[in-house]
Amino acid sequence: MTATKGLEGVVAASSSISSIVDGVLTYRGYDIDDLAVNASFEEVAYLLWFGKLPNQNELDQLQKDLDKYAVLPDALIEQMKLYPKDMNRMAALRSAISALALYDEQADDMSREANELKVIKLQAQLPSIVAALGRIAEGQEPVAPLQGVSIAHNFLYMLTGEQPEDTAIKALDQALVLHADHELNASTFAARVTVATLSDMYSGITSAIGALKGPLHGGANEAVMKMLEEIGSEDRVESYIQEQLSNKVKIMGFGHRVYKNGDPRAKHLQKMSRELGEMNNDLSLYNMSVQIEEIVTGSKGLKPNVDFYSASVYTMLGIPRNLFTPIFAISRVSGWAAHILEQYENNRIIRPRAEYVGPNNQEYRPVTER
Ligand code: ACO
Repeated sequence: MTATKGLEGVVAASSSISSIVDGVLTYRGYDIDDLAVNASFEEVAYLLWFGKLPNQNELDQLQKDLDKYAVLPDALIEQMKLYPKDMNRMAALRSAISALALYDEQADDMSREANELKVIKLQAQLPSIVAALGRIAEGQEPVAPLQGVSIAHNFLYMLTGEQPEDTAIKALDQALVLHADHELNASTFAARVTVATLSDMYSGITSAIGALKGPLHGGANEAVMKMLEEIGSEDRVESYIQEQLSNKVKIMGFGHRVYKNGDPRAKHLQKMSRELGEMNNDLSLYNMSVQIEEIVTGSKGLKPNVDFYSASVYTMLGIPRNLFTPIFAISRVSGWAAHILEQYENNRIIRPRAEYVGPNNQEYRPVTER
């Protein structure tokens, strides 16, 4: 038995949700380039869960269901208020989602019907939790969700307490579409491993949030922004990046296990970053990002991934850095939930083997003889 480090190239599941073939990402057979420009996040979430784009009635019903469940249990809000103010927002989100199961009487109901309802509840509640955590950490009261508006609109409203501009809603909605699913990425795999023991959906989503938090996965978007802040100005980019590269420090937001010729999502976020910079009359973050890309791609051949330009996009939307990865989760919960439903439909426990490389033939000695 020989282990493949990081399971590179290992095909660990069959799935009909999303695919990456020759650098092209599709959700249920629809090219991400098509969906990013034309579809709303709600349409994409429905597509991931139910395998087809919704008609108008189905979309209206989804909106009603999302409205119904976006309101958080009071007990959860009270609990979140007890979290330390300097909480890591992803750690807090992981705890809050785990706690949410305690307030759902159907949490352990494993019927398809109950699980489909949990998908909607989680999709509705996750943005409310992230916005509430963001406000609570700043000493503000959470804002109740609006009814009849998109998730992007509602999230920006709940975070700021003000009606967002159309351009901000459109940009966030497109970012949510681009992050919704990505084949067997680390957090989705974590979710599938957890529910393959026939554990409940909240456990699967909690596992996924834990995996997304790391800087080699979703946490990279916050690390990119930290880097941009450290660099500070366009004239410092060259020396900063060259120093990092010569010290063999990874540049966050670059490289990918699957894409070697570029991440198809990155170009949409780059365009959005430029457009938001032009609108704000401040292209500094965009220009710094482009310069970093030129250097890293030029010297290492590494291309930006989905996290690289999302950092400048979220900053220009007025979102604080420590909410970037939770926003990734607002979108990716749609994909996690679709994968959990798929796993339940054709389940077998996921239990691979390990190549043992430790010592052999050890002899036990009592503690007094060691
Ligand atoms: N900066 C500098 N060098 C890099 C980078 C980077 N961002 N990424 C990879 N490399 C180098 C590695 O050091 C390694 O070089 P070596 O062969 O000389 O040792 C080589 O490229 C291969 O890299 P691995 O880390 O082995 O690639 P792996 O497939 O295991 O990891 C990963 C992929 C985690 C995305 C990696 O590229 C990375 O750490 N990137 C930075 C973090 C990041 O942006 N993560 C977000 C990924 S997208 C997502 O999850 C949403």
